[in-house]
Amino acid sequence: MNSAIPLELLGGISADEFLRDYWQKKPLLVRQALPGFESPLEPDELAGLSLEESVESRIVLEHGKTPWEMRRGPFTEETYKELPENDWTLLVQAVDQFVPEVAELLEHFKFLPSWRIDDVMISYAAPGGGVGPHFDNYDVFLLQGHGRRRWKIGQMCDADSPMLPHADLRILANFEQSEEWVLEPGDMLYLPPRVAHYGIAEDDCMTYSVGFRAPSAAEVLTHFTDFLAQFLSDEERYSDAGMAAVKSGEDQHKIQRDALDRLKNLLQEHMSDERLLLTWFGQFMTEPRYPELVTGEEIDDGELQQALREGAVLVRNPSARLAWSEVDVGLLLFSSGQSVVLPKHMEPLLKLVCSADALHSENLGQWLADEDGRKLLAELVKQGSLEFADE
Ligand code: SIN
Ligand code: CO
Repeated sequence: MNSAIPLELLGGISADEFLRDYWQKKPLLVRQALPGFESPLEPDELAGLSLEESVESRIVLEHGKTPWEMRRGPFTEETYKELPENDWTLLVQAVDQFVPEVAELLEHFKFLPSWRIDDVMISYAAPGGGVGPHFDNYDVFLLQGHGRRRWKIGQMCDADSPMLPHADLRILANFEQSEEWVLEPGDMLYLPPRVAHYGIAEDDCMTYSVGFRAPSAAEVLTHFTDFLAQFLSDEERYSDAGMAAVKSGEDQHKIQRDALDRLKNLLQEHMSDERLLLTWFGQFMTEPRYPELVTGEEIDDGELQQALREGAVLVRNPSARLAWSEVDVGLLLFSSGQSVVLPKHMEPLLKLVCSADALHSENLGQWLADEDGRKLLAELVKQGSLEFADE
């Protein structure tokens, strides 16, 4: 896509301009980002999802048993009968994994790397409902799906921003409002990480939150070093061959600068291994939110070839995550937290697997006759990242 073209979704600025001026920097309100947008889900259908065991949901009541009471799903029909008329919100996570029309919304965000996208959360709020003033550590596009919501935004927050004492919710003790808008269906508000925000339903209202994932620095360091450690033997240690003796007049207890330099070298030697860093990162960013929904089936490449030749269609498991990259020795395909190194000539197949909604004998073409190609597809079916469409 041409990233310099003005986009309606971004209020007439291009993806380039948005990324330069707003992304991770400042909020952007877009009136009619998706003109005429109608929520593909009714409030009842969202509530229906929250009754399901495999769906992650919460209800926040402003005046519940405690102020800002939070309940975790799955809920029952009784739950909804007992809710007050006003001032509560139902939030359902990762609806894109369960409702294809919601996953289709992500088509509008093709100017951002797919592996940065986390999920589409949908909230339904009764009039007055909201989850309190708070901040998130992630970028979010808040798309109004139904009814109207008043969004107030405030100060930039950080880990030191005072919070109300609450076991489950991070509600800001102080909210310093700077701006306020009422969003109608099709309007969208982009918020960078850490901007205080507070959404209040003006009437029955549904909001779609397209959320992003970004590992914390602590996660990068702990997870990458854990990953690296698998490849290191116990024999490889801090070593100081050729070091200078503790001289008379120097304190034997002092850790000298040269020790620190040796340690830095040891770290640098491993931390700068780009292939391992990329392998870890791709695996980490494609870890499914719900691994239990990515389960495969036994199949060998011969059976798979036969099935596809007979008209079977493979689709991406909506709970799976896929990405790819290149390294010195070839290509890396990341699928739901795993990775495989593949020869460079397989790039067209990797792109097809990552982007195609459906894989069949027509678009797979010659790959069905290619043993490496078939083996890869069979592996992805076994792993659960791809599945047969009619199942
Ligand atoms: C909501 O949709 O009610 C909450 C979304 C958010 O503030 O992050
Ligand atoms: Co938020």
